[in-house]
Amino acid sequence: MNASLHCISVLVMVTFLSISFVGCLKNDKKYHRNKVEECDIFAGEWVLDNKTHPLYKEDECEFLSQWSACLKNGRPDSLYLNWRWQPRECSLPKFKAKHLLKKLKGKKLMFVGDSIHNNQWQSLVCLVESAVSPSQKSVDYSGYPQVFRIKKYNVTIEFYWAPYLVESSVDPPKFRDGKTTAVIMAESIAKHGNNWKDADYLIFDSYAWWIKHPTVRVLQGSFEEGDTKYVEIERHIIFEKVLRTWANWVEENIDHKRTSIFFSSASPQHYRSLDWNNPNGVNCASETTPILSTSMPINVGTDRQIFSIAADVIRSMKVKVHFLNITSLSEYRKEAHPSVYIIQDGKLLTPKQKSNPAKYADCVHWCIPGLPDTWNELLYAYIVTHS
Ligand SMILES: *[C@@H]1O[C@H](CO)[C@@H](O)[C@H](O)[C@H]1NC(C)=O
Ligand SMILES: *[C@@H]1O[C@H](CO)[C@@H](O)[C@H](O)[C@H]1NC(C)=O
Ligand SMILES: *[C@@H]1O[C@H](CO)[C@@H](O)[C@H](O)[C@H]1NC(C)=O
Repeated sequence: MNASLHCISVLVMVTFLSISFVGCLKNDKKYHRNKVEECDIFAGEWVLDNKTHPLYKEDECEFLSQWSACLKNGRPDSLYLNWRWQPRECSLPKFKAKHLLKKLKGKKLMFVGDSIHNNQWQSLVCLVESAVSPSQKSVDYSGYPQVFRIKKYNVTIEFYWAPYLVESSVDPPKFRDGKTTAVIMAESIAKHGNNWKDADYLIFDSYAWWIKHPTVRVLQGSFEEGDTKYVEIERHIIFEKVLRTWANWVEENIDHKRTSIFFSSASPQHYRSLDWNNPNGVNCASETTPILSTSMPINVGTDRQIFSIAADVIRSMKVKVHFLNITSLSEYRKEAHPSVYIIQDGKLLTPKQKSNPAKYADCVHWCIPGLPDTWNELLYAYIVTHS
């Protein structure tokens, strides 16, 4: 039996926050039936496991930006750090930073997308940085893309901002403030794409910006002429069109024998506490446990149509794109957001702002360490089992 898999089985009374430990050594064997390659790693359950999780400590990650450092920002509870994703049919391989770096030797891994993928990039940086001595690693936060470089292995782990994948008015050097209403060019992707071509691993996401409004502004003409001439198109219609632009570009420009391609499904948000039967709650603020009832399907307001369009487009592609189906497993994690423990305009929220989570809580991004580490464990499972 794999020593790392001694797990703690926990029963949480969802009605209130009382937690009762019902046993400590679950029989791990039932999970070992299948190989990771043959199992749906996205179907499973959250298991409280403070022996193996978190995979690193928040204050030990040299490169973690304070933006995601929830404990540093004053979050009082820490149970959110201790959950491990347990697929139903198999077990995930134990994350080993050195093993990953050896696999990535001489290669470039790039996350492309929005701030959720910036979260995941930061998580991966934290997951591997401890395996490398200080003189062998560096992060350039100012660049575009942002690059984490590991000299010893000649590896770069990069984040490329393109929240709509195609060109938009919120690309650099413009302001990428979440309050800006963007204008996009639905068929213009080559300018971004030229920066993706030489990556060995490309992991895309695009969701958060699409759901801000029922319609999306689509430019008529080019940005050289300004961004005031646009039409508004219903978001699902234009999302599908853009994803087809992306899919065609990938098919025509990526050498799929060299490059492994991934697409992360929608990262859910938690703004409606009635969704998990907490009438006294204010969005995700004050939540300290995941949704643990699995008897009912979860509905936390994720735009399932966007999810399905992405899944369908990817299924129809001529090249293999791995669909990282992280939506459902993340929907359980209502407590894993930064809530009011955030930096805004360079400063922590004031006590007065903190007391108004309805206005200030962030229930979109994720604490690090936290859920994005699990997404990276799933990505790791692919990378180490496929060569
Ligand atoms: C994604 O995972 C969920 C949970 O296991 C499953 O119900 C759904 O069918 C999956 N969707 C796709 C497109 O793989
Ligand atoms: C893990 O949880 C158990 C049960 O609450 C507790 O006794 C133990 O101290 C915890 N271990 C760590 C490393 O937090
Ligand atoms: C490092 O990796 C890049 C590809 O990412 C390659 O072009 C370069 O030759 C490598 N350098 C060394 C010193 O191995």
